[in-house]
Amino acid sequence: MKKIGSHLTIAIDGPAGSGKSTVARRIAEKLGLLYLDSGAMYRAVTVLAIHHRLTADSPELIDQVKTCRIEFTDNGKTILLNDKDVSVEIRTPSVNRLVADVAKIPEIRSEIVKHQQRIGSEGRIIAEGRDLTTIVFPDADFKFYLDASVRERAKRRLAELRKQDVDTTLEFVEAEIQERDEKDITRAHSPLRTAEDAIIVDTTDKTIDEVVDFIIAEVCKREIGST
Ligand code: DC
Repeated sequence: MKKIGSHLTIAIDGPAGSGKSTVARRIAEKLGLLYLDSGAMYRAVTVLAIHHRLTADSPELIDQVKTCRIEFTDNGKTILLNDKDVSVEIRTPSVNRLVADVAKIPEIRSEIVKHQQRIGSEGRIIAEGRDLTTIVFPDADFKFYLDASVRERAKRRLAELRKQDVDTTLEFVEAEIQERDEKDITRAHSPLRTAEDAIIVDTTDKTIDEVVDFIIAEVCKREIGST
């Protein structure tokens, strides 16, 4: 693998189920980058709200976010909320239901974005979410927007849920994804959108490996001159 520079930011955005987490994680391993799952941070804040019985828009939640500690270990595989491992809890249906409402609160977003930018300043990073290419790292070296049809994204999510023994249907998961897309795209602050300089990748008929290889090829192509 080609050696890439000491500072590198690859930012990936896309809707739920577009494959960005799996793709980013694999690229992080292959290129030796720090992996930042930004959605996991909004999910951790949602866990905080549930634990403290706070609504998404309560001022108390904003205070909690300002003082809580959200940290990643094991290169992004484990997320700690105030030193407690919440990696499993952040994926539960109750968090899925509430997280888009938490993620639309501007004061919460600005705290989380500052945190993400601090992590990004540490060196070579691949970060994924909804506003990484537009708000968090507008000057990223590489920007990608991953997309896939709603049906395909629902199938992927269903397969994940079945692995966790969650009993649900494709129709239900598809409706949930559509509802989440709607919230992510129409919210007033940092809505999901495609950055003008992002490379769009439709992953509907692509395997994870194909997407990973495509992105790595793009990175290596442009990095040749700088190594
Ligand atoms: O990618 P995910 O499904 O784990 O994201 C969870 C929620 O957080 C989703 O509703 C979108 C939101 N989110 C966001 O608003 N900004 C990000 N950078 C990442 C996720």
